Amino acid sequence: MTDKEGIRREVPTDLDRFVRGLPKSELHIHIEGTLEAQMMFDLARRNGVALPYGSIEEVEAAYAFADLQSFLDIYYQAAAVLQKEADFADLMSAYLARAAADGVRHAEVFFDPQTHTDRGIDIGTVIRGFVSAQEDAAPDITSTLILCFLRHLPAAAAVETLDAARPHLEHVQGVGLDSGEKGNPPELFAEPYRMAVEAGLIPVAHAGEEGPPGYIRSALDVLGVRRIDHGVRAWEDPELVDRLARERVALTVCPLSNQRLQVFPDLGLHPLKRFMDAGILVTVNSDDPAYFGGYVGDNYLAIAEALGLTRTDLVQLARNSIDASFLPDGRKVALQDEITAYVSSYPASP
Ligand code: HPA
Ligand code: ZN
Repeated sequence: MTDKEGIRREVPTDLDRFVRGLPKSELHIHIEGTLEAQMMFDLARRNGVALPYGSIEEVEAAYAFADLQSFLDIYYQAAAVLQKEADFADLMSAYLARAAADGVRHAEVFFDPQTHTDRGIDIGTVIRGFVSAQEDAAPDITSTLILCFLRHLPAAAAVETLDAARPHLEHVQGVGLDSGEKGNPPELFAEPYRMAVEAGLIPVAHAGEEGPPGYIRSALDVLGVRRIDHGVRAWEDPELVDRLARERVALTVCPLSNQRLQVFPDLGLHPLKRFMDAGILVTVNSDDPAYFGGYVGDNYLAIAEALGLTRTDLVQLARNSIDASFLPDGRKVALQDEITAYVSSYPASP
């Protein structure tokens, strides 16, 4: 159970305590998806923005999603409360504090510039706000930004977004692709990805969430990504599963998102453990925690319960999250050592 600030108040179980202390990174988190209802109301009041909700209960009632698009409609609308540099800073600070409380040592954070620039907000306002909060939170939790192109908009708009971001690219490490997947395949974005990679960004892409396994192949083959966001529909294609394992392509899986967006309404049928058994570098992440009922620790616990994962599995997932990150090798080794020390000092189950 969480209180209105989103802080857990239950007496923790042993597994709960183990998961939240386990050092990890988070690699699939949309900062706009961390906008808690309370902050939405606070920013709406601060900025004089009208909301279609009268209370937190009404907001929660609206979060019954039939699919990805029904979520995106609400998510883009809510982002209208974010207007000033301080708003973007507050959003990032709140996320980093929650993530740190879940054992996250490093986060690679998606943001959707077009959601803001299309409302007349300067991309510099957005990025400066995020970076000030990121600098304040380090070194307890380090973080980088991944600029996402909205795939329901044309590739030409992605190119314009990249150009607008150029003066700020020292703060951006990666490029991603998100929003409505069906009918918007990765290959449409070949040109903006080519330009982003030329500008020094590391490419990742959402693929195989609602879209078919072929979208995962084109993200690999056309966009050149080595880390796929979601990728869960790979389970339909055994040859692709083999390839992901063989080529050590990472998947950033988000169990509670998959459940809430009806990708796997029954988490007991989720393929995460089958991917692990096939040797894929799978990670667990929260996607849009304010909308899907939990931050990264909650995602570890939910999938552990649904699939009967052991502590050893959970440690493997945390290790994968470090391996699959963009961190330099030296920091990866240090974090793996932290995991080793944590596990060896943690008391055995009663
Ligand atoms: N999929 C695609 N786009 C998104 C998502 C997602 O899960 N969350 C935020 N934007
Ligand atoms: Zn996502």
